[in-house]
Amino acid sequence: MSTVINDIEVIKAKTTKIHEVDFDNLKFGTVFSDHMLVCDYNKGQWHAPKVMPYQPITLDPSAKIFHYGQSVFEGMKAYKDAEDQVWLFRPLDNFKRLNISSKRLAMPELPEAYFMEGLKALLKVDKDWIPKGEGRSLYIRPFVFASGNGFHASPADAYKFIIATAPSGSYFSGTVRVLIEQTYSRSANGGVGFAKAGGNYAGQFYPTQLAIEKGYQQVIWTDDNTHEFIEEAGAMNIFVRIEDTLITAPTSDRILDGITRKSIIELAKSEGMDVEIRKLSVREVVEAAKEGTLKEMFGAGTAAVVSPISGFGYNGKDYTLPELEETYASFLKKRIVDIQTNNAADPFGWRYKVV
Ligand code: PLP
Ligand code: COI
Repeated sequence: MSTVINDIEVIKAKTTKIHEVDFDNLKFGTVFSDHMLVCDYNKGQWHAPKVMPYQPITLDPSAKIFHYGQSVFEGMKAYKDAEDQVWLFRPLDNFKRLNISSKRLAMPELPEAYFMEGLKALLKVDKDWIPKGEGRSLYIRPFVFASGNGFHASPADAYKFIIATAPSGSYFSGTVRVLIEQTYSRSANGGVGFAKAGGNYAGQFYPTQLAIEKGYQQVIWTDDNTHEFIEEAGAMNIFVRIEDTLITAPTSDRILDGITRKSIIELAKSEGMDVEIRKLSVREVVEAAKEGTLKEMFGAGTAAVVSPISGFGYNGKDYTLPELEETYASFLKKRIVDIQTNNAADPFGWRYKVV
């Protein structure tokens, strides 16, 4: 059956998989909803997107995504409030960042309407897939990749933009122990660290595996030049609280300009907290840990929301953070989640109503 929502053609799935899903035990990104949005680029332009049943896609073995890694993605969430209204959080920032990433990988930028109207049409069709309740949401994965063929190492002439969605619970279970990286680098000046390029994640897997073998969950990346300054983690930006000051690294062409990060900065400032956006050396964090002034570390990101870090490893030594009764992390997490889920006023205008 074909209908039209927000000017987008919708081809509905004949059956639904929703009854097979255990919504009380959702792992992150493992179950996918009934539909996806698909939009093709060829002959120099993007063609109208369609919502269609979630299904495998067929690519030629020479498709450039396989060989040269032209692929970028975004991570967003849709939230359902007590009245079943559906909300997004700063979606235009994801749209803009997707195009920033695409441009860096010599891929075509998308028109705003295809992204926004396509996403809204998809969420309307799969509204029942958006779980309600604490910590639950529909994780949204927009991505663009080179579907055009050929072994020549140059940009493809055809691309696909797809949005797939997955009802999800939390990304991490429990607290997170991190290893401050001293050997490998995630990104470098002039590179693609600021882009949400698939290859950035592939490059992290091996050093992260080594960290996991040592009992940590994530790597904290340091600057590639000296490994002396804290940058960000594998899937989140990093905040450190020393005494009562919240510190996070400035964004650069090595760091992803996280939407959660910038929201946390604004929220913390609006609550009168001391926030410093500056270079943060590993030495300062280690000294603070030794002196007892290191109060908290936490990661911030769409999937991770606000994830407290319980300790870190550096130079073969482990440092454990204090267990505080009241933390900036839990305070800021509640503030941001309340805004995202329409549980509190939104003085910043971040919430975006879908339906
Ligand atoms: N840093 C990296 C490398 C990420 O993958 C993410 C996740 O998207 C973030 C930071 C956090 O960004 P955001 O808050 O926009 O999700
Ligand atoms: C997100 O937070 O949305 C991300 O994209 C992180 C991802 C690598 C799981």
